[in-house]
Amino acid sequence: MKVLVTGGTGYIGSHTSVVLLEQNYEVVIVDNLCNSKEMVVDRIQAITGKRPVFYRCDLRDEARLEEIFRAERPDAVIHFAGLKAVGESPKVPLKYYDNNLSSTLTLLRVMEAFGVRNLVFSSSATVYGDRATPPLREDAPLVFSATNPYGFTKIMIEQILTDYCKANPSFNAVLLRYFNPVGAHESGTMGEDPSGIPNNLAPYITQTLVGKREKLHIFGNDYPTPDGTCIRDYIHVMDLAKGHMAAIGLFERGGCGLKVYNLGTGHGFSVLEVVNAFSRAAGKPVPYVIDGRREGDLPESYADCEKAYREMGWKAEKTLDDMCRDALRWQEKNPNGYAE
Ligand code: NAD
Ligand code: WQD
Repeated sequence: MKVLVTGGTGYIGSHTSVVLLEQNYEVVIVDNLCNSKEMVVDRIQAITGKRPVFYRCDLRDEARLEEIFRAERPDAVIHFAGLKAVGESPKVPLKYYDNNLSSTLTLLRVMEAFGVRNLVFSSSATVYGDRATPPLREDAPLVFSATNPYGFTKIMIEQILTDYCKANPSFNAVLLRYFNPVGAHESGTMGEDPSGIPNNLAPYITQTLVGKREKLHIFGNDYPTPDGTCIRDYIHVMDLAKGHMAAIGLFERGGCGLKVYNLGTGHGFSVLEVVNAFSRAAGKPVPYVIDGRREGDLPESYADCEKAYREMGWKAEKTLDDMCRDALRWQEKNPNGYAE
């Protein structure tokens, strides 16, 4: 089976491409490199011994995307491409709505034109907003309550795909709601490479541990949680990657219509527990200070992952210690990420 991976040189797309190639899928990556480097293709090849086909292309360029589909004739698409910086999105909302929504609409039109009927979409736990109580289940009613334009793009794309599936009963769409992806490929040659100051916890900690940042700022320790810091469901990026293969398996078993799955571990860890796990991995303490709360943070978020196991046979296997060890190995081997 040939899988076209949009955003395939990005963090999650690159790890998923490795898993797909190792399982003998053909992989075609389409990415405009707005948040990744072409060098990632070499790293994927170094790990797997196979080179994915790569096209530098903005998904909103419909004519070019048609050319790619004409040349490649994929059987399925995994759609990772999108802008994802939660904090940036309220400052440049049009950029987020245009990039994320227009890319998806263009992709769907081209898929329709070429009769490609299998799509996996990168959604996010952010769609649960702040009204559902953890453990979060897929059937929780979604209120239109994201706290930022990025989150709204995920809610809107889920709705677009729901409506599209209703109108096209032979179309298969698997919406995967990721919780908090962390970690890196265990070789230490591929990982997360945020540009500028990291927004997310794990890369901020690894950059602190290699001396690129002075100390971690913990955003609040007065939440109603056991140690006062926020709780999240961290999932190893390689487990997440395998979740996408499980979704492709649904297509191979004859189609599934519209499906929605959480990808998490089902366990929550506090910020301080993550800090301690990184300290264990590094063999030295993570320097930190307690700061005020960050706007928009929920006290607690973790998944109910039973449905993904029941229907796809997928569950996360790696531990928090695995995530910290692999994230740190990547950072130590590549202190400046994929810098040329
Ligand atoms: P990433 O930024 O590393 O990867 C996204 C890739 O998409 C980048 O390589 C970027 O260059 C590419 N891209 C963006 N817009 C494009 C366009 N118009 N045309 C072509 N390529 C384009 O992000 P990631 O962490 O790998 O996330 C992948 C997907 O998963 C995103 O949709 C993101 O919203 C979603 N997601 C991520 C997280 C997370 O914490 N990392 C959590 C939940 C959901
Ligand atoms: C985790 C915890 C912070 C940085 C985000 C998006 C979500 C999804 C995953 C895309 C929180 C604390 C963080 C720091 C800290 N992405 N923290 N100091 O906010 O749970 O989720 O990424 O869909 O939509 O919102 O992840 O890694 O930013 O934060 O104390 O420097 O770490 O307050 O409690 P978050 P995160």
